[in-house]
Amino acid sequence: MSTNTATPEVDKGLATTYAAETEMSFIDGSKGILEYVGIEIDALARNSSFEEVVSLLWNRRLPTQSELDAFNKKIRAEYDLPDAMWAMIKQVPSSATPMHALRTLVSALAMFDEEADDPSEGANERKSIRLLAKAPTLIAAFDRHRKGQDFVKPDASMNIASNFLTMLNGEKPTDTMQKALDVCLILHADHGLNASTFAGRVTISTLSDMYSAITTAIGTLKGPLHGGANEAVMVMLNEIGEMDRVDQYIKGKLDRKEKIMGFGHRVYKAYDPRATYLKTFTKQLAADTGNQKLYEMSTRIEQIMDEAVAARGIYPNVDFYSATTYASLGLDIDLFTPMFAMSRIAGWAGHCIEHLSDNRLIRPRAAYVGPHEKPYVPMNER
Ligand code: ACO
Repeated sequence: MSTNTATPEVDKGLATTYAAETEMSFIDGSKGILEYVGIEIDALARNSSFEEVVSLLWNRRLPTQSELDAFNKKIRAEYDLPDAMWAMIKQVPSSATPMHALRTLVSALAMFDEEADDPSEGANERKSIRLLAKAPTLIAAFDRHRKGQDFVKPDASMNIASNFLTMLNGEKPTDTMQKALDVCLILHADHGLNASTFAGRVTISTLSDMYSAITTAIGTLKGPLHGGANEAVMVMLNEIGEMDRVDQYIKGKLDRKEKIMGFGHRVYKAYDPRATYLKTFTKQLAADTGNQKLYEMSTRIEQIMDEAVAARGIYPNVDFYSATTYASLGLDIDLFTPMFAMSRIAGWAGHCIEHLSDNRLIRPRAAYVGPHEKPYVPMNER
Protein backbone atom coordinates (compact mmCIF):
# COMPACT_ATOMS: atom_id res chain seq x y z
CA MET A 1 0.00 0.00 0.00
CA SER A 2 1.45 3.39 -0.91
CA THR A 3 0.85 6.43 1.27
CA ASN A 4 1.15 10.03 0.16
CA THR A 5 3.64 11.42 2.67
CA ALA A 6 4.05 14.92 1.19
CA THR A 7 3.55 17.38 4.05
CA PRO A 8 1.23 20.28 3.18
CA GLU A 9 2.33 23.77 4.10
CA VAL A 10 1.13 24.65 7.61
CA ASP A 11 0.16 28.19 8.62
CA LYS A 12 1.35 27.86 12.21
CA GLY A 13 -0.72 30.06 14.50
CA LEU A 14 -2.99 30.80 11.50
CA ALA A 15 -1.14 34.11 11.26
CA THR A 16 -1.86 34.65 7.57
CA THR A 17 -5.21 32.86 7.31
CA TYR A 18 -8.47 34.80 6.93
CA ALA A 19 -11.01 32.38 8.45
CA ALA A 20 -14.09 34.63 8.61
CA GLU A 21 -15.66 37.86 7.42
CA THR A 22 -16.80 40.46 9.92
CA GLU A 23 -18.56 43.80 9.75
CA MET A 24 -17.70 44.75 13.32
CA SER A 25 -14.05 45.76 13.69
CA PHE A 26 -11.32 46.66 11.22
CA ILE A 27 -7.63 46.59 12.11
CA ASP A 28 -4.79 48.00 10.04
CA GLY A 29 -1.82 46.61 11.91
CA SER A 30 0.82 48.46 9.93
CA LYS A 31 -0.76 51.88 10.45
CA GLY A 32 -2.08 51.23 13.98
CA ILE A 33 -5.74 51.78 13.11
CA LEU A 34 -8.73 50.18 14.82
CA GLU A 35 -12.30 50.99 13.80
CA TYR A 36 -15.60 49.66 15.08
CA VAL A 37 -18.05 49.63 12.14
CA GLY A 38 -15.89 52.25 10.44
CA ILE A 39 -15.54 54.62 13.41
CA GLU A 40 -12.05 55.14 14.84
CA ILE A 41 -11.54 53.77 18.33
CA ASP A 42 -10.17 57.10 19.54
CA ALA A 43 -13.41 58.92 18.63
CA LEU A 44 -15.44 56.26 20.39
CA ALA A 45 -13.27 56.29 23.52
CA ARG A 46 -13.57 60.10 23.70
CA ASN A 47 -17.27 60.47 22.96
CA SER A 48 -19.21 57.25 23.37
CA SER A 49 -20.31 54.92 26.16
CA PHE A 50 -19.82 51.17 26.41
CA GLU A 51 -23.52 50.50 25.90
CA GLU A 52 -23.61 52.70 22.80
CA VAL A 53 -20.55 50.88 21.43
CA VAL A 54 -22.19 47.50 21.98
CA SER A 55 -25.28 48.73 20.14
CA LEU A 56 -23.01 49.96 17.32
CA LEU A 57 -21.23 46.61 17.08
CA TRP A 58 -24.39 44.53 17.19
CA ASN A 59 -26.54 46.69 14.88
CA ARG A 60 -23.73 48.07 12.66
CA ARG A 61 -24.79 51.67 13.21
CA LEU A 62 -24.93 54.22 16.02
CA PRO A 63 -28.27 54.14 17.85
CA THR A 64 -30.65 57.07 18.10
CA GLN A 65 -31.29 58.35 21.65
CA SER A 66 -34.56 56.40 21.91
CA GLU A 67 -32.92 53.23 20.57
CA LEU A 68 -30.11 53.60 23.10
CA ASP A 69 -32.60 54.18 25.92
CA ALA A 70 -34.49 51.03 24.94
CA PHE A 71 -31.24 49.05 24.69
CA ASN A 72 -30.11 50.25 28.14
CA LYS A 73 -33.47 49.25 29.58
CA LYS A 74 -33.13 45.73 28.20
CA ILE A 75 -29.60 45.35 29.56
CA ARG A 76 -30.46 46.68 33.02
CA ALA A 77 -33.48 44.37 33.26
CA GLU A 78 -31.02 41.46 33.00
CA TYR A 79 -28.44 42.56 35.63
CA ASP A 80 -29.91 40.32 38.33
CA LEU A 81 -29.27 36.57 38.62
CA PRO A 82 -31.63 33.68 39.28
CA ASP A 83 -31.79 32.90 43.03
CA ALA A 84 -30.09 29.57 42.41
CA MET A 85 -27.11 31.36 40.85
CA TRP A 86 -26.66 33.59 43.92
CA ALA A 87 -26.69 30.39 45.98
CA MET A 88 -24.26 28.71 43.60
CA ILE A 89 -21.73 31.55 43.89
CA LYS A 90 -21.60 30.88 47.64
CA GLN A 91 -20.54 27.31 46.84
CA VAL A 92 -17.55 28.36 44.73
CA PRO A 93 -14.33 27.87 46.74
CA SER A 94 -13.14 31.27 47.92
CA SER A 95 -9.63 30.21 46.88
CA ALA A 96 -10.75 30.06 43.22
CA THR A 97 -9.44 32.73 40.87
CA PRO A 98 -12.04 35.08 39.35
CA MET A 99 -11.37 33.79 35.81
CA HIS A 100 -12.04 30.18 36.84
CA ALA A 101 -15.14 31.36 38.69
CA LEU A 102 -16.37 33.47 35.76
CA ARG A 103 -15.85 30.69 33.21
CA THR A 104 -17.71 28.21 35.43
CA LEU A 105 -20.56 30.56 36.38
CA VAL A 106 -21.17 31.74 32.82
CA SER A 107 -21.43 28.09 31.81
CA ALA A 108 -23.86 27.49 34.69
CA LEU A 109 -26.12 30.36 33.55
CA ALA A 110 -27.19 28.17 30.62
CA MET A 111 -28.97 25.82 33.00
CA PHE A 112 -31.28 28.62 34.13
CA ASP A 113 -32.11 29.93 30.66
CA GLU A 114 -35.05 28.27 28.94
CA GLU A 115 -33.78 29.65 25.65
CA ALA A 116 -30.26 28.22 26.09
CA ASP A 117 -30.62 25.82 23.17
CA ASP A 118 -32.93 27.98 21.03
CA PRO A 119 -30.76 28.72 17.96
CA SER A 120 -33.00 31.45 16.52
CA GLU A 121 -31.45 34.88 15.99
CA GLY A 122 -33.99 36.48 18.32
CA ALA A 123 -33.11 34.09 21.15
CA ASN A 124 -29.40 34.55 20.50
CA GLU A 125 -29.80 38.32 20.70
CA ARG A 126 -31.63 38.00 24.03
CA LYS A 127 -28.94 35.65 25.34
CA SER A 128 -26.25 38.11 24.24
CA ILE A 129 -27.90 40.81 26.35
CA ARG A 130 -28.23 38.42 29.30
CA LEU A 131 -24.56 37.43 29.12
CA LEU A 132 -23.43 41.05 28.80
CA ALA A 133 -25.62 42.14 31.71
CA LYS A 134 -24.97 39.24 34.07
CA ALA A 135 -21.19 38.82 33.70
CA PRO A 136 -20.42 41.94 35.80
CA THR A 137 -22.81 40.68 38.49
CA LEU A 138 -21.08 37.29 38.55
CA ILE A 139 -17.61 38.86 38.82
CA ALA A 140 -18.56 41.32 41.58
CA ALA A 141 -20.57 38.73 43.52
CA PHE A 142 -17.77 36.19 43.41
CA ASP A 143 -15.25 38.80 44.60
CA ARG A 144 -17.43 39.75 47.57
CA HIS A 145 -18.07 36.09 48.39
CA ARG A 146 -14.34 35.26 48.41
CA LYS A 147 -13.70 38.21 50.72
CA GLY A 148 -16.43 37.09 53.11
CA GLN A 149 -18.61 40.12 52.30
CA ASP A 150 -22.37 40.20 51.67
CA PHE A 151 -23.52 40.51 48.09
CA VAL A 152 -24.47 43.94 46.78
CA LYS A 153 -27.38 43.41 44.41
CA PRO A 154 -27.40 45.15 41.02
CA ASP A 155 -28.99 48.56 40.63
CA ALA A 156 -30.86 49.07 37.36
CA SER A 157 -30.59 52.84 37.62
CA MET A 158 -26.89 52.67 36.71
CA ASN A 159 -24.88 51.90 33.60
CA ILE A 160 -22.75 48.76 33.40
CA ALA A 161 -19.53 50.40 34.66
CA SER A 162 -21.12 52.18 37.65
CA ASN A 163 -23.28 49.23 38.57
CA PHE A 164 -20.29 46.89 38.49
CA LEU A 165 -18.09 49.12 40.68
CA THR A 166 -20.96 49.60 43.13
CA MET A 167 -21.59 45.85 43.39
CA LEU A 168 -17.85 45.28 43.81
CA ASN A 169 -17.03 47.98 46.37
CA GLY A 170 -20.37 48.49 48.12
CA GLU A 171 -20.33 52.19 47.29
CA LYS A 172 -20.96 54.27 44.19
CA PRO A 173 -17.85 55.08 42.15
CA THR A 174 -16.73 58.64 41.50
CA ASP A 175 -17.39 59.99 38.01
CA THR A 176 -13.68 59.59 37.21
CA MET A 177 -13.69 55.93 38.25
CA GLN A 178 -16.79 55.03 36.32
CA LYS A 179 -15.50 56.89 33.25
CA ALA A 180 -12.16 55.06 33.46
CA LEU A 181 -13.84 51.66 33.53
CA ASP A 182 -16.28 52.67 30.79
CA VAL A 183 -13.35 53.69 28.56
CA CYS A 184 -11.62 50.35 29.19
CA LEU A 185 -14.82 48.53 28.30
CA ILE A 186 -15.07 50.50 25.03
CA LEU A 187 -11.45 49.78 24.10
CA HIS A 188 -11.73 46.02 24.68
CA ALA A 189 -15.15 45.39 23.13
CA ASP A 190 -14.08 43.79 19.85
CA HIS A 191 -10.90 43.06 17.94
CA GLY A 192 -11.25 41.02 14.79
CA LEU A 193 -10.56 37.31 14.90
CA ASN A 194 -8.43 37.31 18.04
CA ALA A 195 -7.79 33.96 19.75
CA SER A 196 -10.81 34.01 22.09
CA THR A 197 -13.20 35.23 19.39
CA PHE A 198 -11.92 32.55 17.05
CA ALA A 199 -12.42 29.93 19.76
CA GLY A 200 -15.99 31.16 20.33
CA ARG A 201 -16.69 31.06 16.59
CA VAL A 202 -15.37 27.49 16.39
CA THR A 203 -17.78 26.45 19.14
CA ILE A 204 -20.81 28.19 17.65
CA SER A 205 -19.95 26.81 14.19
CA THR A 206 -20.79 23.32 15.46
CA LEU A 207 -24.30 24.67 16.17
CA SER A 208 -23.63 24.45 19.88
CA ASP A 209 -25.13 27.29 21.99
CA MET A 210 -24.15 30.84 22.97
CA TYR A 211 -23.31 29.90 26.56
CA SER A 212 -20.92 27.20 25.34
CA ALA A 213 -19.31 29.62 22.89
CA ILE A 214 -18.80 32.36 25.48
CA THR A 215 -17.48 29.82 28.01
CA THR A 216 -14.97 28.63 25.41
CA ALA A 217 -13.95 32.21 24.72
CA ILE A 218 -13.45 33.05 28.41
CA GLY A 219 -11.15 30.05 28.82
CA THR A 220 -9.15 31.16 25.79
CA LEU A 221 -8.90 34.79 26.89
CA LYS A 222 -7.41 33.74 30.22
CA GLY A 223 -3.93 32.85 28.86
CA PRO A 224 -1.07 35.31 29.42
CA LEU A 225 -0.38 35.53 25.67
CA HIS A 226 -3.89 36.97 25.28
CA GLY A 227 -6.14 38.66 27.88
CA GLY A 228 -4.15 37.37 30.83
CA ALA A 229 -1.31 39.71 29.83
CA ASN A 230 -2.81 42.64 31.78
CA GLU A 231 -2.40 40.69 35.03
CA ALA A 232 1.12 39.62 34.00
CA VAL A 233 2.02 43.30 33.42
CA MET A 234 0.92 44.17 36.96
CA VAL A 235 2.87 41.26 38.42
CA MET A 236 5.91 42.58 36.54
CA LEU A 237 5.39 46.17 37.80
CA ASN A 238 5.11 44.85 41.36
CA GLU A 239 8.25 42.74 40.94
CA ILE A 240 10.16 45.78 39.70
CA GLY A 241 8.82 47.85 42.58
CA GLU A 242 10.93 51.00 42.16
CA MET A 243 11.89 53.30 39.31
CA ASP A 244 15.60 52.69 39.81
CA ARG A 245 15.15 48.95 39.21
CA VAL A 246 13.32 49.26 35.88
CA ASP A 247 16.34 49.35 33.56
CA GLN A 248 18.15 46.40 35.10
CA TYR A 249 14.96 44.30 35.22
CA ILE A 250 13.84 44.92 31.64
CA LYS A 251 17.30 44.73 30.07
CA GLY A 252 17.96 41.51 32.00
CA LYS A 253 14.80 39.96 30.63
CA LEU A 254 15.63 41.04 27.09
CA ASP A 255 19.17 39.66 27.43
CA ARG A 256 17.67 36.34 28.53
CA LYS A 257 15.33 36.50 25.49
CA GLU A 258 12.27 36.61 27.75
CA LYS A 259 9.14 38.40 26.59
CA ILE A 260 7.99 41.59 28.24
CA MET A 261 4.29 41.29 28.94
CA GLY A 262 2.06 43.96 27.43
CA PHE A 263 4.28 44.36 24.35
CA GLY A 264 3.91 42.91 20.89
CA HIS A 265 0.87 41.90 18.92
CA ARG A 266 0.07 39.40 16.23
CA VAL A 267 -1.58 42.05 14.03
CA TYR A 268 -0.20 45.44 15.13
CA LYS A 269 3.32 46.11 13.98
CA ALA A 270 2.77 49.79 14.84
CA TYR A 271 1.53 51.33 18.11
CA ASP A 272 -1.75 49.72 19.24
CA PRO A 273 -4.25 52.63 19.02
CA ARG A 274 -5.99 51.39 22.18
CA ALA A 275 -2.69 51.74 24.04
CA THR A 276 -2.23 55.25 22.59
CA TYR A 277 -5.53 56.33 24.10
CA LEU A 278 -5.06 54.53 27.42
CA LYS A 279 -1.57 55.92 27.91
CA THR A 280 -2.84 59.51 27.77
CA PHE A 281 -5.98 58.75 29.76
CA THR A 282 -4.17 56.84 32.48
CA LYS A 283 -1.57 59.52 33.12
CA GLN A 284 -4.12 61.77 34.83
CA LEU A 285 -5.99 58.90 36.49
CA ALA A 286 -2.77 57.53 38.01
CA ALA A 287 -1.80 61.00 39.26
CA ASP A 288 -5.27 61.55 40.78
CA THR A 289 -5.23 58.21 42.58
CA GLY A 290 -1.66 58.23 43.90
CA ASN A 291 -0.43 55.67 41.36
CA GLN A 292 2.00 57.94 39.56
CA LYS A 293 4.88 55.56 40.24
CA LEU A 294 3.18 52.79 38.26
CA TYR A 295 2.66 55.15 35.35
CA GLU A 296 6.25 56.41 35.46
CA MET A 297 7.69 52.88 35.64
CA SER A 298 5.49 51.97 32.65
CA THR A 299 6.71 54.88 30.54
CA ARG A 300 10.34 54.03 31.39
CA ILE A 301 9.73 50.40 30.35
CA GLU A 302 8.25 51.71 27.12
CA GLN A 303 11.36 53.87 26.49
CA ILE A 304 13.68 50.90 26.96
CA MET A 305 11.52 48.70 24.74
CA ASP A 306 11.35 51.46 22.15
CA GLU A 307 15.13 51.51 21.86
CA ALA A 308 15.45 47.72 21.97
CA VAL A 309 12.61 46.27 19.90
CA ALA A 310 10.33 48.93 18.34
CA ALA A 311 12.27 48.61 15.08
CA ARG A 312 10.99 45.03 14.95
CA GLY A 313 7.38 46.21 15.27
CA ILE A 314 7.04 45.45 19.00
CA TYR A 315 5.12 48.21 20.78
CA PRO A 316 2.87 48.37 23.86
CA ASN A 317 -0.46 46.62 23.35
CA VAL A 318 -3.78 47.41 25.06
CA ASP A 319 -2.86 45.32 28.09
CA PHE A 320 0.21 47.38 28.99
CA TYR A 321 -1.45 50.58 30.21
CA SER A 322 -4.63 48.73 31.25
CA ALA A 323 -2.65 47.38 34.19
CA THR A 324 -2.00 50.87 35.60
CA THR A 325 -5.59 51.89 34.83
CA TYR A 326 -7.09 48.95 36.72
CA ALA A 327 -4.63 49.32 39.60
CA SER A 328 -5.65 53.00 39.81
CA LEU A 329 -9.26 51.85 40.08
CA GLY A 330 -8.21 49.82 43.11
CA LEU A 331 -8.96 46.47 41.47
CA ASP A 332 -7.20 43.34 42.68
CA ILE A 333 -4.77 41.99 40.07
CA ASP A 334 -6.80 38.88 39.37
CA LEU A 335 -9.82 41.03 38.45
CA PHE A 336 -7.96 42.61 35.52
CA THR A 337 -8.64 39.84 33.00
CA PRO A 338 -12.30 39.53 34.05
CA MET A 339 -12.65 43.24 33.11
CA PHE A 340 -11.45 42.31 29.63
CA ALA A 341 -13.93 39.42 29.50
CA MET A 342 -16.80 41.64 30.70
CA SER A 343 -16.20 43.90 27.74
CA ARG A 344 -15.27 41.32 25.09
CA ILE A 345 -18.58 39.49 25.60
CA ALA A 346 -19.86 42.21 23.26
CA GLY A 347 -17.49 41.06 20.52
CA TRP A 348 -17.85 37.34 21.21
CA ALA A 349 -21.64 37.44 21.13
CA GLY A 350 -21.68 39.64 18.02
CA HIS A 351 -19.30 37.27 16.25
CA CYS A 352 -21.40 34.23 17.18
CA ILE A 353 -24.52 35.78 15.64
CA GLU A 354 -22.53 36.98 12.63
CA HIS A 355 -21.09 33.50 12.16
CA LEU A 356 -24.47 31.79 12.38
CA SER A 357 -25.89 34.08 9.69
CA ASP A 358 -23.63 32.26 7.21
CA ASN A 359 -22.43 29.23 9.09
CA ARG A 360 -19.86 26.77 7.95
CA LEU A 361 -18.32 24.33 10.43
CA ILE A 362 -14.81 25.55 11.27
CA ARG A 363 -12.66 22.51 10.89
CA PRO A 364 -9.11 23.03 9.62
CA ARG A 365 -6.71 20.20 8.97
CA ALA A 366 -3.57 18.99 10.69
CA ALA A 367 -0.61 17.90 8.56
CA TYR A 368 0.26 14.45 9.85
CA VAL A 369 4.00 14.18 10.44
CA GLY A 370 4.13 10.78 12.19
CA PRO A 371 5.06 7.36 10.79
CA HIS A 372 3.01 5.18 8.39
CA GLU A 373 2.57 1.47 7.71
CA LYS A 374 3.75 0.29 11.12
CA PRO A 375 2.72 -3.22 12.21
CA TYR A 376 0.48 -3.73 15.24
CA VAL A 377 2.73 -5.36 17.84
CA PRO A 378 0.94 -7.66 20.29
CA MET A 379 1.21 -6.62 23.95
CA ASN A 380 3.51 -9.50 24.97
CA GLU A 381 6.02 -8.65 22.22
CA ARG A 382 6.47 -4.92 23.04
N1 ACO B 1 8.82 41.07 24.42
C1 ACO B 1 9.98 40.75 23.79
N2 ACO B 1 10.05 40.16 22.59
C2 ACO B 1 8.89 39.91 21.98
C3 ACO B 1 7.65 40.24 22.55
C4 ACO B 1 7.63 40.82 23.82
N3 ACO B 1 6.51 41.13 24.43
N4 ACO B 1 6.66 39.86 21.72
C5 ACO B 1 7.25 39.32 20.65
N5 ACO B 1 8.61 39.35 20.81
C6 ACO B 1 9.61 38.80 19.89
C7 ACO B 1 9.66 37.28 20.06
O1 ACO B 1 10.58 36.91 21.05
C8 ACO B 1 10.05 36.83 18.69
O2 ACO B 1 11.43 37.03 18.55
P1 ACO B 1 12.33 36.06 17.64
O3 ACO B 1 11.85 36.27 16.22
O4 ACO B 1 13.72 36.54 17.86
O5 ACO B 1 12.08 34.66 18.13
C9 ACO B 1 9.34 37.83 17.77
O6 ACO B 1 9.16 39.01 18.55
C10 ACO B 1 7.99 37.33 17.29
O7 ACO B 1 7.23 36.94 18.45
P2 ACO B 1 6.07 35.87 18.41
O8 ACO B 1 5.71 35.52 19.81
O9 ACO B 1 6.42 34.75 17.51
O10 ACO B 1 4.95 36.71 17.68
P3 ACO B 1 3.42 36.40 17.67
O11 ACO B 1 2.82 37.19 16.60
O12 ACO B 1 3.18 34.93 17.67
O13 ACO B 1 3.03 36.90 19.13
C11 ACO B 1 2.20 37.87 21.02
C12 ACO B 1 2.22 37.91 19.49
C13 ACO B 1 1.82 36.48 21.50
C14 ACO B 1 1.16 38.87 21.53
C15 ACO B 1 3.60 38.25 21.56
O14 ACO B 1 3.97 39.54 21.12
C16 ACO B 1 3.67 38.15 23.08
O15 ACO B 1 3.85 37.05 23.62
N6 ACO B 1 3.53 39.31 23.81
C17 ACO B 1 3.53 39.28 25.24
C18 ACO B 1 2.16 38.87 25.78
C19 ACO B 1 1.11 39.94 25.58
O16 ACO B 1 1.30 41.10 25.87
N7 ACO B 1 -0.06 39.49 25.09
C20 ACO B 1 -1.21 40.37 24.88
C21 ACO B 1 -1.49 40.51 23.41
S1 ACO B 1 -2.74 41.72 23.13
C22 ACO B 1 -4.16 40.97 23.56
O17 ACO B 1 -4.32 39.79 23.57
C23 ACO B 1 -5.21 41.84 23.93
